[in-house]
Amino acid sequence: NNILLDPQDTITYLHFLVAVRAIRMGSASVVSAAARRLQGKVALITGGARGIGECIARLFSKHGAKVLIADIKDDLGESICKDIGSSSSSANGCSYVHCDVTKEKDIENAVNTAVSQYGKLDIMFNNAGTVDEAKPNILDNDQAEFERILSINLVGAFLGRNMLLGVCGIIGGAATHAYTSSKHGLLGLMKNTAVELGRFGIRVNCVSPYAVSTPLAKDFLKLADDGLGGMYSNLKGAVLEPEDAAEAALYLGSDESKCVSGHNLVVDGGFAIVNAGFSVFGKSE
Ligand SMILES: NC(=O)c1ccc[n+]([C@@H]2O[C@H](COP(=O)([O-])OP(=O)(O)OC[C@H]3O[C@@H](n4cnc5c(N)ncnc54)[C@H](O)[C@@H]3O)[C@@H](O)[C@H]2O)c1
Repeated sequence: NNILLDPQDTITYLHFLVAVRAIRMGSASVVSAAARRLQGKVALITGGARGIGECIARLFSKHGAKVLIADIKDDLGESICKDIGSSSSSANGCSYVHCDVTKEKDIENAVNTAVSQYGKLDIMFNNAGTVDEAKPNILDNDQAEFERILSINLVGAFLGRNMLLGVCGIIGGAATHAYTSSKHGLLGLMKNTAVELGRFGIRVNCVSPYAVSTPLAKDFLKLADDGLGGMYSNLKGAVLEPEDAAEAALYLGSDESKCVSGHNLVVDGGFAIVNAGFSVFGKSE
């Protein structure tokens, strides 16, 4: 304002504007490239059609990964993929493959699909899981149901090998016997595979969230949409969202965690380290 420029100044000023613009654009692309923590990677996410898996698929894609969702809910998986693909910066950024994680052939097909479609596979996230109906008495639990939960939650991850565990993998009493056993088993599987696969440069880790508001948790806990906010937490005001688990998965899938293997990343606001019945610091609300 009110500054008079002679023609030479004007040119300089225009150059300056162009330069600022270029720097801005340049720095914007540097920032966004830096922000894309999975640029150039290919990720296969089992159980990615809804819940935490869907959230991981969206976040991975936002960070530049090509994502293959593997699930048994075909319509849902296809439509999530379409939605992710339309907002993805790269063409063909997300695709879907039918895969029941209890079937070795399906897992093999999913891995082959990732390789044939995208040329490689960098991140395998074994998220698919389920829970049986809560039965407080062990005598009411039958073998077939126990084996069904183990076959999805544990054998499914064995076939796939990065896993989504949950705090039920480190504490007792928060879910059914089958679910708790499957998640404790996953912890052992994660450690053993991390030891074996390290020599190939493959890292294996787990993410363990506390209760997250997804169809699985709401069905199991018989809670309404906002019900989880009222559950015991050790961290005042923090309500765990699927995005929190997805951020942990993003860290483990990115090169920022290149030296992290055999680790169980607990995302629970401190829930698992507290004995809710006794604490010298008093009880959290
Ligand atoms: N929601 C929670 O509070 C919570 C907490 C800790 C850990 N977890 C774990 O997180 C994972 C995802 O849970 P969520 O809450 O998003 O559940 P969800 O039910 O919302 O989603 C699970 C997905 O897995 C798929 N799936 C189930 N069985 C499958 C199979 N045999 N083959 C392929 N896909 C299959 C489902 O179709 C679904 O899309 C599970 O492993 C669960 O145990 C959940």
